[in-house]
Amino acid sequence: MTMRTDDVPDDVKPSDLMVLKTGIEGADIVFALHQACFPPGSGERWSHTDLCEVLRMPGTLALIASRDDQPLGYGLARFAADECELLSLAVADPQRRSGVAHALVGHLIHLCRNRSMARLFLEVREDNEAARALYNKSGFKMVGRRPRYYKMANGTAKDAVTMAYSLND
Ligand SMILES: CC(C)(COP(=O)(O)OP(=O)(O)OC[C@H]1O[C@@H](n2cnc3c(N)ncnc32)[C@H](O)[C@@H]1OP(=O)(O)O)[C@@H](O)C(=O)NCCC(=O)NCCS
Repeated sequence: MTMRTDDVPDDVKPSDLMVLKTGIEGADIVFALHQACFPPGSGERWSHTDLCEVLRMPGTLALIASRDDQPLGYGLARFAADECELLSLAVADPQRRSGVAHALVGHLIHLCRNRSMARLFLEVREDNEAARALYNKSGFKMVGRRPRYYKMANGTAKDAVTMAYSLND
């Protein structure tokens, strides 16, 4: 684990929540949360190898949110030129609806501002109502659609919606 990122505005983070920024050294924690949050066949599940490959890419980082040293959720992001992509985000089921994901997204927006990014964007499965509600609440707008982007284990595919948060406004 490398550094704290708790120099963010007070309205972003519940006071008992810690958010740490990490790289490949946090891969096992991120992977455990990822596996618990994305069921097999969901079209969004990564292998440990894939995750490590992404975390080793230049410009990639993970934010891990924890309470009492217990990891609760993560956000994985890649910075390139003046854009940042939120690659994956998840919060452990028992801890949901307590503002953890909102805090992670808020931290990422804060990091983007500090790094003078112009845009933060992501893809979300069209039928993922919880995530879409979170991103709407966090200020993202829908900017596009990718048909059949998520390949499901049963051979079907689900559309992705592309959403973006403009940091120039
Ligand atoms: C989507 C997810 C990350 C949300 O995490 P969370 O910590 O529960 O979200 P928060 O508590 O920060 O919620 C913030 C806002 O998002 C919206 N929201 C979150 N979960 C919701 C749900 N199940 N239904 C409707 N709105 C929801 C609400 O507007 C909520 O604000 P409110 O609680 O004041 O109403 C979590 O449900 C999850 O990990 N799901 C499985 C993995 C996943 O789908 N990741 C996203 C892939 S793009």
